[in-house]
Amino acid sequence: MRLSPAAHAVYLGLVADADFPVGSVILEVLREEGTNLPGPVLALERTEADWVYQVLDTEGRPDPAHAASLELCPRCHAAAPAAPIFGLPRSTPPAADSASAPSPSGAVGVDGPASRSAPAPSAVGAPGSAGAP
Ligand code: HEC
Repeated sequence: MRLSPAAHAVYLGLVADADFPVGSVILEVLREEGTNLPGPVLALERTEADWVYQVLDTEGRPDPAHAASLELCPRCHAAAPAAPIFGLPRSTPPAADSASAPSPSGAVGVDGPASRSAPAPSAVGAPGSAGAP
């Protein structure tokens, strides 16, 4: 994870209504499976109007090969704890939700979160042939 300086503290102390300054950039560098070489870079940029999703190549340029997958980004990120920001692993990604809310009846994982997170890993892997984040 790489963050622009202004975004750094906000990200580390992430809260639900965290207020990232305009111009904040958060990058997640994916690794190629097997080789572990740097792969596509997922980027979230805070602009005046909204957050902008991008997939960059290893040179930092927008990668047209992944343009089609950009419409997938907000689907997951709208469900992030500090939407659209997930933050560091301690803030539960969707898949962990059911584990943190044990049901008294013992029926675990039948409702909600599981269905939302089920398609996640393959969707993330697809755009880049890179290791899932
Ligand atoms: C299938 C669900 C899913 C999709 C689709 C998805 N993401 Fe994410 N993303 C996550 C999760 C979960 C995290 C937090 C865990 C991690 O960092 O890997 C995350 C983290 C990130 C981060 C690190 C900042 C943060 O939120 O903490 C960036 C940047 C990011 N994603 C960009 C993108 C971009 C750009 C796209 C579209 C090309 C995208 N994501 C599509 C689930 C998704």
